[in-house]
Amino acid sequence: MTHLLHRTIKGSLPFAVGGKGIRIFDSDGRAYIDASGGAAVSCLGHGHPDVMAALRDQLDRIAYAHTSFFTTEIAERLADRLVEDAPAGISHVYLVSGGSEAVEAALKMARQYFVEKGEPQRRHVVARRQSYHGNTLGALAAGGNEWRRRQFQPLLIETHHIDPCFAYRYQLPGESDAEYAARAAQALEDKILELGAGEVIAFVAETVVGATAGAVPPVADYLRRIRAICDRYGVLLILDEVMCGMGRTGTLHACEQEGVVPDLLTIAKGLGGGYQPIGAVLLGRHIFDAFANGSGFFSTATPIWAIRWPRQLGLPSRR
Ligand SMILES: Cc1ncc(COP(=O)(O)O)c(C=O)c1O
Repeated sequence: MTHLLHRTIKGSLPFAVGGKGIRIFDSDGRAYIDASGGAAVSCLGHGHPDVMAALRDQLDRIAYAHTSFFTTEIAERLADRLVEDAPAGISHVYLVSGGSEAVEAALKMARQYFVEKGEPQRRHVVARRQSYHGNTLGALAAGGNEWRRRQFQPLLIETHHIDPCFAYRYQLPGESDAEYAARAAQALEDKILELGAGEVIAFVAETVVGATAGAVPPVADYLRRIRAICDRYGVLLILDEVMCGMGRTGTLHACEQEGVVPDLLTIAKGLGGGYQPIGAVLLGRHIFDAFANGSGFFSTATPIWAIRWPRQLGLPSRR
């Protein structure tokens, strides 16, 4: 009898009691080769002594300090490193606790960017069918997996979906890769024009599609065309590399191989390697500048001291 709500309620799971390198051991002494690293998470293997020493060292110093009031050397070092290794134009990092939260934050940053810039009419998010961006409501709404979305549909924000770039399914007989890339990217331009050129906030896509289509890279030129269309209409490009980023495709970020720099880049999974829940949004200098020159903060992370209450909390003033 378990009190955990497991992913499958019927049936039972083995108890994982240990992990070393590529192997997980269960309580019956069986060893499993964790070849996929779970859901593309354990990229450094299990029980890596250097990672464990670094975690212990930080725990010995401090485990938590409220980010309204403090920063930490370890968080600063991580951000420095991520920006140093990021594509040109990325200037800042927003740390969160996982992939879904990173996607939520990226969607909000994209919206706030236009509010700060005086374009509050921009409200549409375009994403792709057969995509997965996480399980929280905003990320689920962006995702294009009908089965996962269906029962939560009434709770989801309005989003719009175009076909993915999925040559195996959608490329026509006799159509070259270049022709297919142009046609697949054209779907974005058509959607932007249908919704109203000045009304779209962002296009969200996995650089390499993971959970819903199964390791599907775009055909050559597709993402460069997507970048050009986004630039033409002032739409932000959010690349979700929660699964395919952090070294999983041979470069740190998958978009490096496409020669494309997104405005917002989400990462998680391989960032923490399963050792701690962590995700991040990498943001371009222009996004940061819009916040810095506008309200002075990213609204999801408004520092406590900046909330002017009771007005901003909607409280009646005291009589
Ligand atoms: C591309 C992509 N985005 C977002 C997520 C959500 O990440 P998390 O499960 O850490 O919330 C996933 C998880 O599989 C993913 O593959």
